[in-house]
Amino acid sequence: MTKPCLQLPVRLRRLRRDAAVREMLRETVLTPAQLIQPVFVTEGSEQEPIASLPGIHRIPLCQIAEYCGHLRTLGLRGIALFPKISSEVKTADGREALNPDTLVVRATRAIKERLSGLLVFNDIALDPYTTHGHDGILTGDGADVDNDGTVAILAEMAVLHAQAGADFVAPSDMMDGRVRAIREALDSAGHSGTGIMAYSAKFASAFYGPFREAVGSLRQPGAPRFSKASYQLAPGNRREALREAELDEAEGADIVMVKPAGFYLDIIRDLRERTELPVAAYQVSGEYAQIHAAAERGWLELEAVRDESLLAIRRAGADLILTYFAEAVGGALNR
Ligand code: PBG
Repeated sequence: MTKPCLQLPVRLRRLRRDAAVREMLRETVLTPAQLIQPVFVTEGSEQEPIASLPGIHRIPLCQIAEYCGHLRTLGLRGIALFPKISSEVKTADGREALNPDTLVVRATRAIKERLSGLLVFNDIALDPYTTHGHDGILTGDGADVDNDGTVAILAEMAVLHAQAGADFVAPSDMMDGRVRAIREALDSAGHSGTGIMAYSAKFASAFYGPFREAVGSLRQPGAPRFSKASYQLAPGNRREALREAELDEAEGADIVMVKPAGFYLDIIRDLRERTELPVAAYQVSGEYAQIHAAAERGWLELEAVRDESLLAIRRAGADLILTYFAEAVGGALNR
């Protein structure tokens, strides 16, 4: 019997036949410089584990610079800072957000005083500071979030963070007009060098639960039913998401973001094709938690699924990924 040999003009397996050719022809790669680690900071004196985010801790202010130094040595170039403030200082109007010495401002200063080469992205929204957990102040009847009143506070908050040394402010509130107001406030305060990474296509997702545990913005018992649907996007709305990003770009955003990431790859791809701005994607807390939960049961292999999930987000067109896996991937890529 002669060896069968099909007369095929094209054999795609030639380009996959060994590790060298596969590595040479990889179209998408993960590098630590494109990953941003979300970092939770707390007033406490010990690191606090977060049950629904295995491996992630709230970091005490006194250790924050050291921890960020460690991330920097792994090759990470950026962190996104989020405060867990004591519930005693939360109010309905979230006024602690404008305290010039609030926790996240002190953390930013501590990092910037002791570390260079690590970009600090500060979230701009009121949810860590309000008793109701909404991203802004409420209207008089308490039925909705007051758009324009919230925007005025966010613009002031952004200036405070720029003064503390934030490289980028990242409005995650989804109010109308906030990017323009923040850009104007930063420029008039002499912070024209501070960038804006806009949470542009931010969906009203059910995947934010573990994050809300981490910053303590979960609904308090007895509080009204919690929905952010009057400002965050409906998960099925693609065109509206693209309009949000277009508007943020016109208002002066330097980077636009899609959030969550893994279930919104089509939006990432659409944006990548429509804008020349860098596109970021936020692989959110629930995306991280579900991978960990399955891995804990032995149902999925943690590292393989982690890397595949991130690679898919990059392939869809994200230049940057905010991910709770950043530290772990940085560690693995350095080994
Ligand atoms: C709120 C904010 C949220 C996240 C980042 N900023 C949650 C929310 O909108 O309720 C979620 C991030 C995550 O789930 O990892 N401004």
